[in-house]
Amino acid sequence: MNQPEEAPNLHVDPYERIWMILGAVMIAAILVIIGITGFGAGFAVPDPVARVDPKTVANSLPFSDPGLRELAPGKYEAFILARTFLFQPREITVPAGSTVTFYVTSADVQHGFKIENTNVNLQIVPGQVSKLTTRFDTPGEFNFICHEYCGAGHAAMFGKVIVTP
Ligand code: CUA
Repeated sequence: MNQPEEAPNLHVDPYERIWMILGAVMIAAILVIIGITGFGAGFAVPDPVARVDPKTVANSLPFSDPGLRELAPGKYEAFILARTFLFQPREITVPAGSTVTFYVTSADVQHGFKIENTNVNLQIVPGQVSKLTTRFDTPGEFNFICHEYCGAGHAAMFGKVIVTP
């Protein structure tokens, strides 16, 4: 008659156990941090809101007349046209506390649009209008830059949002 089989001895070294626990804690902490920064800071995925023809977008509204429109007090929309190698307009001014919805597109190649110290960070893909809303609470100047290498004048592609008190 056979002996009943013994359960295999799953010995885990105490140090290995500590690292396993530490690893699980770190994964949990990273998920919590992503959750807090993502939802708490209002991160949003940029929407491709419309399709346009990059060859004609500069000649038809709204991008033939880019810039800021006031929808209601403190509520704006900004149409920005990116092209080699500038943003039209280069500068917009809003009062502190304003909510601005940006609509950005390209008249030629792929560009980027990042406004410092905000959640605005968009890829500007020719043929697509990218949209993102942000709120400017702090007075000051917020530079925006093209962060996608687009050619010889890439480094000259910048502008700013001026937030007045
Ligand atoms: Cu536009 Cu780099």
